[in-house]
Amino acid sequence: MLLASQRFEYVNWSSVEWDIRQKGYSVIHRWLTKAESVMLRDVWQNPQDFGPTVDMEHHHFGHGQYRYFRDPLPEFLTQLRTKMYPYLRDIAHHLWDTPKSNHFPDSLNEFLAMCHDAGQNQPGVMMLYYPTGGFNIWHQDRHGSVLFPLQIIIVLSESGHDFEGGKLLVQEEYSHKPPERHIIGGNIGDVVVLCTTSRPKRGHGPKKSEFYHGVSKVTTGERYSLSCLFHDE
Ligand SMILES: [Fe+2]
Repeated sequence: MLLASQRFEYVNWSSVEWDIRQKGYSVIHRWLTKAESVMLRDVWQNPQDFGPTVDMEHHHFGHGQYRYFRDPLPEFLTQLRTKMYPYLRDIAHHLWDTPKSNHFPDSLNEFLAMCHDAGQNQPGVMMLYYPTGGFNIWHQDRHGSVLFPLQIIIVLSESGHDFEGGKLLVQEEYSHKPPERHIIGGNIGDVVVLCTTSRPKRGHGPKKSEFYHGVSKVTTGERYSLSCLFHDE
């Protein structure tokens, strides 16, 4: 497996930034190979790497299960989160036109220290499993006062082979007009970068919006994904 840091050198970050500015998300296609995605999703079979299994239906979140990774995260995920953070931090500062005094810290560790000071100690990294019939309602991964404005989702199953349906969706809600929805979909190995709670305000465009994501119903097969927040919860 290539180191996460090596892979980031090949990503066109300007194009990621452009996409997020235009539509609130960007897909880095096939960031992981199929074999690597399968290896990662097989971690689901080791419950000892995770906290308790949460049944989405029980909380009215949809149908399926998710598990937060225990601290410390597996090395690959620690590296992924740490190495990706500075790129997304720069993008966030550009997109939200953040004044220097409010810049996020240079390193993920410094940012996580801010989360911990605010009592947010659970690493915001989880794996999700959707059986046939599984889905996830519109939501935002906002669970504390310290929040990073971009997050990623990695699709770990192959659309059209492992499952049908199960599309990643985003919705933007405005106070003055109907919501806008996009079907992202996403296939095995894709990293989707998306806005956590709102899309940056555009010059003459709509005012502040709320940004939500969800997963449509898996019609056949099973779908796994990994959700990585840069704040702890
Ligand atoms: Fe989510």
